[in-house]
Amino acid sequence: METHHIWDLLFLFLLGASSLTMAQNLHCHKGVSMNVEEDPGSMFNWTTEKVETCDNGALCQESVLVIKSGAKTAVLATKGCISEGTQAMTFAQHSPPPGIITVSYSNYCEDPLCNNQKDLKELWRPGVIPASNVSTTLRCPTCVALGTCLSAPSLPCPKDTNRCYQGRLQIIGGDINSALEVKGCTSVTGCRLMSGILTIGPMWVKEICPYHSLIHPRKIENGATWLSISVGRFELLLLLLLLLLLQLLVLCS
Ligand SMILES: *[C@@H]1O[C@H](CO)[C@@H](O)[C@H](O)[C@H]1NC(C)=O
Ligand SMILES: *[C@@H]1O[C@H](CO)[C@@H](O)[C@H](O)[C@H]1NC(C)=O
Repeated sequence: METHHIWDLLFLFLLGASSLTMAQNLHCHKGVSMNVEEDPGSMFNWTTEKVETCDNGALCQESVLVIKSGAKTAVLATKGCISEGTQAMTFAQHSPPPGIITVSYSNYCEDPLCNNQKDLKELWRPGVIPASNVSTTLRCPTCVALGTCLSAPSLPCPKDTNRCYQGRLQIIGGDINSALEVKGCTSVTGCRLMSGILTIGPMWVKEICPYHSLIHPRKIENGATWLSISVGRFELLLLLLLLLLLQLLVLCS
């Protein structure tokens, strides 16, 4: 009598767990876009054609990195499921005008097809710098390109910038694996166009400049490995506990 009761409870528990799993299959818009263009504020189309079914427990996400140097602007955007996170909207201005402008936006949400931002109109509105605000002394090689810049003309800098930036960004995650080369005028010092904020939703950014050490990205990689190992051990422990429980039940009956 007593054991029967325990089996019933276990059965109910398993039934509950499996129906919970089935209820959580979320659908999200899916797509990746990498462009360099003149005016993404009015031209960039962020609608996607595909829809993805997520694993249980996942959220929808839409994330974008925008970098402007000179007249050109690079846009790296991704939409899809994301397995971990909490509902949140994040906007960051990594490097401010004048000079190279870097901003990012990321939205994690829980409702079906909620990652439905259609354009960058509300997210990207860089001002135009009038001719009177251009410096007469500082000029920098200026370009932004996917991969490598084919040319980087030396252009006059805006007032209030004081140095030339040259760097490469490696962007990985959210179905993106791409490099960006960026050159231009800035007031940001060092290799810090991203201002040390190196995750944008599912995307990881590694910023590399000539003559700078690579110690920081290495540290982050090690941390990530350690985390995934400890999660694996935790799951193993749960499995062992469950086996032990079953054995106890068999012994009791
Ligand atoms: C954006 O692209 C989609 C198809 O990819 C198209 O149906 C839609 O009309 C476009 N929107 C604008 C504003 O151009
Ligand atoms: C132009 O320069 C002036 C004075 O330095 C400044 O107040 C103004 O904000 C600048 N305008 C732009 C669009 O950068």
